[in-house]
Amino acid sequence: MTPIPELLAAKLDAALRSLGRDADLPEGFAATVAPAADTRFGDYQSNTAMVLAKALKTNPRQLAADLVAALGETVADLCEPPEIAGPGFINFRIRPAYLAARLGRLLADPRLGVPETADPKRIVIDYSSPNIAKPMHIGHVRSTVIGDALARIARFLGHDLVADNHIGDWGTPIGQVLYGWKHHLDEAAFEAAPIAELLRLYQLVKAAFESDPEVKAACLEETVKLQSGDPDNRTLWDKFCAVTAADRNATYDRLGVKFDIELGESFYHDALAPLVAKLLAEGVAEESDGAVCVFSDGSAEPREDPFLVQKDGEWVPFPCMVRKSDGGFNYATTDIATIDHRAGELRADESWYVVDDRQAGHFRQVFAVAARRGTPIGLKHIAFGKILGEDRTPYKTREGTVPHLGDVLDDAVARARAVVDDKSAALPEGERTEIAERIGLGAVKYAELSQNRASDYVFDWDKMLALDGNTAPYLLNAYVRTRAIFRKLDGAAPEWDSLAISEEAERSIAMKLAQYSEIVPAVLNDHRPNLLANYLYELAKGFHSFYEQCPVLRSEGATRDTRLALCELTSRVLKHGLDLLGIQVAERM
Ligand code: ARG
Repeated sequence: MTPIPELLAAKLDAALRSLGRDADLPEGFAATVAPAADTRFGDYQSNTAMVLAKALKTNPRQLAADLVAALGETVADLCEPPEIAGPGFINFRIRPAYLAARLGRLLADPRLGVPETADPKRIVIDYSSPNIAKPMHIGHVRSTVIGDALARIARFLGHDLVADNHIGDWGTPIGQVLYGWKHHLDEAAFEAAPIAELLRLYQLVKAAFESDPEVKAACLEETVKLQSGDPDNRTLWDKFCAVTAADRNATYDRLGVKFDIELGESFYHDALAPLVAKLLAEGVAEESDGAVCVFSDGSAEPREDPFLVQKDGEWVPFPCMVRKSDGGFNYATTDIATIDHRAGELRADESWYVVDDRQAGHFRQVFAVAARRGTPIGLKHIAFGKILGEDRTPYKTREGTVPHLGDVLDDAVARARAVVDDKSAALPEGERTEIAERIGLGAVKYAELSQNRASDYVFDWDKMLALDGNTAPYLLNAYVRTRAIFRKLDGAAPEWDSLAISEEAERSIAMKLAQYSEIVPAVLNDHRPNLLANYLYELAKGFHSFYEQCPVLRSEGATRDTRLALCELTSRVLKHGLDLLGIQVAERM
């Protein structure tokens, strides 16, 4: 279904053409209509007259008046007569009759009005991507949950999506764990809790690695042996991979997160030596003190150049090393090979990386290398900030105090269970268990998805589990309230074919429902699931105030049908929108 602003923009554009001034328009110009900043003056507005006045050598208010005159009756079925405001805005208020008709169509549309993209792409999305031999911790929530939501939304919009879990399974840390295994393994501990033991070995050896050159050399040797196919190290590595995969898959299953492929760093190993040779042949990389590096080519301003850093007021080289002087390869080398694979074998048009902002410098370099090689693929780092503990400081990996993801999820569900037991003691035990699981996991996901991803946020149990405010429990509760109406419904089933909107509260919620078709595609403009989360929150709030002002079951005739239609659509949009965020609703709570 075409979103309303697009319908209005098309009419406005036609009005503009009818002025006969096409020759003066900037090339490729098209009129635009956006949601109104202040809905007291309309639902949508256009600043087209202000943008164009100069080119058309007129003043913006005059141009707005000409456009409104040219629009004439062409928008009469959609909106009230457009109004001119301020310096030259054109305001549009949608007619209740149009909204009522649109509601009927929304009810018949399984996509709830959301159009498929006109420009479907093949997109690889790289998210979660934890490292082996370590448990997933609270920090993995961000990449996993944002990535999953973006993947769901992009798929729903009709993109051909490949979700890839780029596991860190190959570098120096594995050598440290191999060394630890050979010198310090506590077998009973491994039997009891394999990943905890691998983590203990890693932390133990990592400390020695930094202080003791012999341990360091021995660890590096273990990595080299693994990478050159040593059978013992290979067997151990397989074991590490297997136990870590079991742990992470249990977490993904619980969270409802899926991947299409899981190509870890090891997958690219054989491509690295030929890649470095190619980079040298292409003149992109050069030898430097026995290593192979990519340096600045001077094409960008220093502050835009990822291969320079400022030191004591001077810009100095900050190369991207693709082969170390000992012959080993780096994280960056693997990512360059990964781009080749995604552009080549996977024939992707775009590759998205949902990775924390501390890796921004890494991606800027890797993307610049790809650009210099003329990569055909669009590359986007979807960066996010940190999760802070309740003391508002970041969790510290080194001190080993970072909560494990599995424990966080258990904790969330236990806390949700306490709320459910308190509020819904009458529901059967099994149902309460199920509801607590949905609320708990939903709360953790929603706390993430309702944030601007660029900001840090505090992991605050009380806030995320509150029944009031911008939280998952609030939204799930709004959904439950819509379902309760239909359970209480007796007598005639509603008829959706003669809807009529009369009250402002009805018009306002109907408008909100129609806007679902605008919000979902907008999420992908800058990869911001919080647009959808906040829309759902406003929808739920709007529904509560509609429901307070407009009796539903006690009303009659077309009014009752219309109000039930608004309840039904609110219900469907909440469920659908939460599903796009990876959150499951409950029918009762
Ligand atoms: N394993 C990495 C980490 O834990 C994240 C990988 C992100 N994806 C990528 N293609 N580099 O930091």
